Amino acid sequence: MKIEKTPFGKLADGTPVDLFTLWNAELRVKIMNYGGTVVSLMAPDKEGKLKDVVLGFDSLSDYLSDAYRQESPFFGAIIGRFGNRIAGGKFSLNGNDYTLATNDGPNHLHGGEKGFDKVLWQAEEVYEEEGLGLRLSYVSEDGEEGYPGRLRVEVTYMLTNKNELQITYRAETDKATIVNLTHHSYFNLAGDAKKDILDHELMLPADTFIPVNASMIPTGELQPVGGTPFDFRTPEAIAPKMKADNKQLTYAKGFDHCFVLNGKPKELKLAASVFEPDSRRLLEVYTSEPGVQFYTGNNLTGALTGKEGRKYLPHSGLCLETQHFPDAPNQPAFPSAELWPGEQYQSRTIFKFSVK
Ligand code: BGC
Repeated sequence: MKIEKTPFGKLADGTPVDLFTLWNAELRVKIMNYGGTVVSLMAPDKEGKLKDVVLGFDSLSDYLSDAYRQESPFFGAIIGRFGNRIAGGKFSLNGNDYTLATNDGPNHLHGGEKGFDKVLWQAEEVYEEEGLGLRLSYVSEDGEEGYPGRLRVEVTYMLTNKNELQITYRAETDKATIVNLTHHSYFNLAGDAKKDILDHELMLPADTFIPVNASMIPTGELQPVGGTPFDFRTPEAIAPKMKADNKQLTYAKGFDHCFVLNGKPKELKLAASVFEPDSRRLLEVYTSEPGVQFYTGNNLTGALTGKEGRKYLPHSGLCLETQHFPDAPNQPAFPSAELWPGEQYQSRTIFKFSVK
């Protein structure tokens, strides 16, 4: 078990960025303080062979390039202040109307033009009995990206002795605001440059999901998954489900939907499990959040070439973004994403790796 800190290049204004490598007996995770981004995650297969199971790049410049900005995949980053979409970039809170950047067609996505994925976090190494980690802090000033309130945010990545990457989020504000933090790794458990994620077997313990309109904004309804391609309550390969004739899959060009997790909100519960049959790698996701956005990387275009010369195409990776529901600030029936002064935002997600 150890942490190694190395320079990872410089931002346009010359500010240095650090890369932290966290090791335990089986896993190796690399996280940079720019965007709190998981750059690499090496996990063993059935023969103990380590392979990188997340999409990303070997150098900082690739995360800063114009091509990356244009594609905006948010590889491995911390997403905030509000993960997912807000309709028209508008919401009202405490008698005030707020306007945010519309950076995804007519809507606001993942915190705006310069969200938490594009800021430099202060990093502190953490050594505890359960494992080792990195505590990242950032203060988002009142009005940043149009959001109200000075928000103090702390995100801790822990690599535990149980082969988990545990992410704990905390935030406090001095004015009523909205918060929905998540993590945006694209997993590919094959760890093989040539394979997509369509043969991965997925299980999502969700009886309902959130249908969207053509601009990917929730209709407000929670639709039962039974009899639809959205029923992943028992493990199933992704590919056959993607072929179904379904308006929701057409809108999103695949899966890009929030699933409503069974079980109690705020309690840690299973959010997903993903199994890759060749390598036999298994990823289980647990969360205290009410939902998980399952995204099959539909908007990757092939314009970006990542680690090992791998071209990132649609379905090169999949995201399991634990979160409150999209557009929650405009959907009174959804669990509230408001944070008020004196309250503490707290959220936890665990990515657990094993072989089966
Ligand atoms: C969204 C996708 C989007 C992707 C990258 C995901 O969280 O749901 O629609 O294309 O992030 O921006």
